[in-house]
Formats: sequence, structure tokens, C-alpha cells
Amino acid sequence: MAEKNELMEKIVSLCKRRGFVFPGSEIYGGMANSWDYGPLGVELKNNIKQEWWKRFIQQRDDMVGIDAALIMNTKVWQASGHLANFSDPLVECKKCHNRFRFDQIPGIEASKNQSGGFQFKISAGAKCPICGVDAQINFSEPSSFNLMFKTFIGPSEEKSNLAYFRPETAQAMFVDFKNVLDTSRKQLPFGIGQIGKAFRNEITPGNFIFRTREFEQMEIEYFIRPPQKDEEWNNVFEMWRSEMKTWITDVLGIKWEHIHELEVPKEELAHYSKRTIDFEYHFPFGVSELYGLAYRTDFDLKNHMEASKQDICYTDPQTGEKILPHCIEPTWGVDRSVLAVLCEAFDDSNPENVVLRLPAKLAPYKVAVFPLLKNKEQLVGKAREIYNNLKKHFTVAWDDRGNVGKRYYSQDEIGTPFCITVDFDTVEKDNCVTVRDRDTKQQPRVKIEDLVKYLSEKINLYV
Ligand code: GAP
Repeated sequence: MAEKNELMEKIVSLCKRRGFVFPGSEIYGGMANSWDYGPLGVELKNNIKQEWWKRFIQQRDDMVGIDAALIMNTKVWQASGHLANFSDPLVECKKCHNRFRFDQIPGIEASKNQSGGFQFKISAGAKCPICGVDAQINFSEPSSFNLMFKTFIGPSEEKSNLAYFRPETAQAMFVDFKNVLDTSRKQLPFGIGQIGKAFRNEITPGNFIFRTREFEQMEIEYFIRPPQKDEEWNNVFEMWRSEMKTWITDVLGIKWEHIHELEVPKEELAHYSKRTIDFEYHFPFGVSELYGLAYRTDFDLKNHMEASKQDICYTDPQTGEKILPHCIEPTWGVDRSVLAVLCEAFDDSNPENVVLRLPAKLAPYKVAVFPLLKNKEQLVGKAREIYNNLKKHFTVAWDDRGNVGKRYYSQDEIGTPFCITVDFDTVEKDNCVTVRDRDTKQQPRVKIEDLVKYLSEKINLYV
């Protein structure tokens, strides 16, 4: 385990040193579990989001996208069940007054009772992790802690102005369902997708960007006719399961053997779900949830229709029949995607030459351009010309410091798949440059006029 934590430390340290992820508010001593994406991190994160948007929204005929408000009408959260059910069970130590989620303390087990509350079992020997007193004697009865982030709308902090930041992007897809239907004229089955921030007042944030209180999700609500047989929703569920698998392997470049599919037991399902599969990744700190896939039935649309008293049904274009669709929800965490991609790509098998083997499409820089020597005007001028031209097509880094070997190592560490060097042959003989491949280390000479085509083809193939 020490070795694995060491791996996590190395990744966190690389992220800070090279500008992927910084501790939030650092000059003020930081803020626990708050992280900022730096210049390279934001490129990596945006590339993941863009690949997702292209693949699941723009390239599919059965999908449309939205971008909804972070703070929605409080009635949304009453109807969705989040105000009543989106809670973690907590126990409090009566001696030191710290509060804990049950799974933080060995020897405490919790299960849901029939009314949706929690039942705790505290075994002999369980102790408070802070002050060490006997948990059986000193711990309070369990209570629910709602994870919704509160705020106030307008200048006065009255109860009537209380509002919540969304804990999932999903609800906007249900609340906007009718508007999307009327304007896009989509027919069932079809889905609505969204990328955006979600907020949860997590009790146990941690493991770098794995669990934070502010994070991003990429979610799809995929609507189908109310199924007559289980097979009907199950087929769509399996279709999305396979899409999620392909995304993980072909876009993120994660080996399938590093993923574990967890069939979530009935008693642990979220309040809206009839079936959920979690895609878990072998993170250095343990196997933990990366993504989820749930069958939400008509739970949300039904509740919003009842609560809003609006007709948000789908009208069958052939029969005129009114239908309340059911919904399959594939959901992806953006920050967990970034973390899994970084963990998968990190290669320090040669500690002198750490390499981030990122899929080229996700790499912050696709290519770096170097003049062989920085004080030779003819080399620098030609390299600048190439750099400026490539910048119209790709994200490009410029480096003229130190020797070329060191520049390669520096680009390897941030995952740049190709490095171009302009040398004396380039300007005096063949108008070609060397294009060094991060992973194969091969350095073919490529004509300057062919560079855009050559790199485009390579980047598209490089997973
Ligand atoms: N709409 C369903 C939903 O929100 P979830 O499993 O609670 O389901 C979906 O969240 C995904 O969001 C997770 O699989 C994970 O990738 C990401 N996620 C959830 N909580 C997170 C947190 N506190 N920090 C970072 N990512 C989180």
C-alpha cells in the first residue's frame, strides 16, 4: 500500500510541478480538498470534454445537448427527492464532537431500514479515530446529513430565499424535457446530454481530485418508451454499457483489465434507481467508482409532472398517445476521468525519463518544436516559421532551452506525443525535420510541407 500511495504522491507532485493541477487558494495556505486546473490541466480536461461532446452529442442522431443553470428552483430538489434522500449517515463522538461517516470507522456497519433511514451496528472494539474512546459507549445515534450545498438568492438571508447548487446535472434534463422535445422534435428513443459543474457538501472528500465538493459531470438522460418487458430497457442499458466501455478503452486509453464493473446491490441503490452498474477503476489508492450507469425508470419525469402540475408527456407522432418515457442514465465524472487518465498514463519505469503516455487526442500539446541550437538565427527562424504554422492546426509547445535530450524528457513528462527538431540539414539540404515519437522513440525525417498531414494522421490513430 505504501508503494501505491507513493505512486499517488508522484502523480500529485508532477501535476503541481508541471501545471496540471494546483492546490486551490494556495497563497492563503490553501483550502482543504480544493484544486485548480493549471495551463496543462485545463487543456487535458477540455480535450476530454470535447471528445465526449463530439462522440455522444454531435455525432449521434439520437442526442441533443443543453447547458443549464447551476442553481435551480428549490421545488426541483423537492420533487427529485434530493432534499429528503440525498444524505450520508453520520455518527458523532460525544467526547470530541467530531462527526464521521460510518465507512470511515472500522467496526461500524450501516444499512437502510424500510422507511429509508439508517440502522447502525457498532461492534465491540470500535474506537473514535480522533480521540480513541470506545465507540459503542460514546457515539451518538446515527443521523442523516444532507449533501446539498446551500446558498441564498438576493440580499436577505431569509429561509424563503434559501436555494441549492445542483448536486447532479441530471435534473435539468428532466426539467427541460418538454422544451427540448418541442424545439428539437426528437422522437423516442432519444437522449439529452450536458457537461457542467455539480456541488456536494461531501463529508469525506479526498484522494486528490477524486472526491471534491465542486466537480464536473458529463451526463446523459436517454429516454425510451415505457417498457412492457424488462428486456426492452435492458437492451438500451446494455447499449450504453458497451458505449461506456468503448469510451474508457478507445478514448481514455485505459486497459479494460484495470476496470471492474460493480453491480450495485439492491439495498445500496440510489433512491431513483432500479439498477446501477458502477465502472470502477484501479486507482493507486484502491478500486473506486469512475462512472455509473443507472436505470432511473420514469421516477424523475413522473415526480416533476406531479409537482409542477405541467403536462410534460411525450406525444406519440403516429398514434397521438401520451407517454411518460423511462430513462437510462450513463454518467461520467470529468475530474475522475482526468485522474484515471493520468494514473493510467504515468510511466516511471525509467525514473530518469518519466513519461505520460497520454492518448494523443487528450495530450495538452500535440507537438513541440525545437531549433537544434538556440543561438543560430537560421535554425531559430525556420523553427519559428514551422511553430507558427502548426499552431493554426494543433496545440504546440516551443522549447529552445538546454540540449535536445533534455527537451525530449521535459515533453515526455507532460505527454507531448511528437517533438520536431529543426537542424542544419533542414535549412541547408532537405527541407525536412525529425519528428520524434514519444513512445516508439523513432525519429523519421518528414518534409516540412507534409507535417500537418503527417501529424493529423498520427494523432487520430494514437490511443
Ligand atoms: N446523476 C447521477 C449521479 O450524479 P453519482 O454516481 O452520484 O450519480 C456521477 O455521480 C459521477 O460523478 C460519479 O460516477 C463520479 O464520476 C462523479 N462524482 C460524484 N461525486 C463526486 C465528487 N464528490 N467528486 C468528484 N466526482 C464525483
